[in-house]
Amino acid sequence: MAKQDAPKTKLRVGLIGAGGIAGTHADNYKKFEDVEILAACDVSEPGLARFKDKYSVPQTFKTWQEMLKHVELDAVSVCTPNYLHCLPTIDALNAGCHVLCEKPLAMNAAEGAKMLAAAKRNKKHLVIGFQFRFDGHTQVLKKAIDAGHFGKILYVRIQAMRRRGIPSWGVFGRKDLQGGGPLIDIGVHALEMAHYAIGAPEPVAASGQIWTYLGNKTPAASCAWGAWDHKTYTVEDLAVGMLRMKNGTVIHLESSFAAHIEKDLWNFQIMGEKCGANWENAALFHDEAGMMLNSVPAHVPKVEIFPCKMRHFVDVCLGKRKSEAPAEHGLMVQKMLDGIYASAAAGHEVKLK
Ligand SMILES: NC(=O)c1ccc[n+]([C@@H]2O[C@H](COP(=O)([O-])OP(=O)(O)OC[C@H]3O[C@@H](n4cnc5c(N)ncnc54)[C@H](O)[C@@H]3O)[C@@H](O)[C@H]2O)c1
Repeated sequence: MAKQDAPKTKLRVGLIGAGGIAGTHADNYKKFEDVEILAACDVSEPGLARFKDKYSVPQTFKTWQEMLKHVELDAVSVCTPNYLHCLPTIDALNAGCHVLCEKPLAMNAAEGAKMLAAAKRNKKHLVIGFQFRFDGHTQVLKKAIDAGHFGKILYVRIQAMRRRGIPSWGVFGRKDLQGGGPLIDIGVHALEMAHYAIGAPEPVAASGQIWTYLGNKTPAASCAWGAWDHKTYTVEDLAVGMLRMKNGTVIHLESSFAAHIEKDLWNFQIMGEKCGANWENAALFHDEAGMMLNSVPAHVPKVEIFPCKMRHFVDVCLGKRKSEAPAEHGLMVQKMLDGIYASAAAGHEVKLK
């Protein structure tokens, strides 16, 4: 049932998909006094029944189409696998809802562009589930960058690397349902926060390589998450890419579910003309009074990033703040991911349109 714009004080929300991440959305919605969960849908009946009981959801449905038709909603969380981000998002936007779509925006940029167009057409917010941009370290570095401390940003090195962390649940090893592996699943997180911190420049070219050498074989060593389904594993184990921005900045991204490295790496480093930075410890590297200085802020805000992302979405829907994670950012990130996959397939650098 389509809804027309009117300033709202209490947001009526529904959830599409009632699996793992939907629970985290619902946990947070339940804590907000200005939100009520009115409905949820999922194709899995037992999963939906558990979700309904746990979060006292008044109405549940098997399909999002039924939910959108029968329940008057202001906003929807899209928490389905990647191949089901585009359609439910567009349907929810067309039904007059704001949408928080989980990361990544979509399977590819072509889908993402349609989602963004639907948001614009319906004058609704499409917010992407990028929580790492709200992290205290990201915010500290962004402030220093916005204040001009770095001068021109030359190079950003991003790492989202697991030694052995292939998900043993869900469909994360299925190229057809997820669009890719670690690059689109965890590389996207590290890329979104770094790209946001440096001011979301426009990407224009990508080159990269991907490799699958372990996930599609019987696990040969024990690991924390146990055995995954190697028989349906069709995504990469390791991806690397180099991304050129229109303003001249170069981003290098490494992402893996299974890299032969000493320990997991989750970081980005920035190298500018006047200053550099390390996300992990929010350290700045610069020259001052004839010395090379390493500076760390005396206070880095401790941010619970997931609750912050959920609160941000509610505030955006209620017209209380501007979106820090708009679909435009999601689309640029998606183009970069697409570009790395496309370059790996082509064997040369590709232009991003
Ligand atoms: N932001 C984050 O940190 C974060 C973390 C985990 C997952 N995610 C994203 O959330 C999405 C879901 O991941 P998950 O871990 O919750 O997976 P999940 O498998 O736990 O949940 C997905 C749910 O969608 C349901 N579903 C499938 N087809 C459906 C349909 N046609 N209609 C309604 N429901 C349907 C499934 O039955 C399942 O319950 C993915 O896009 C993933 O990338 C984001």
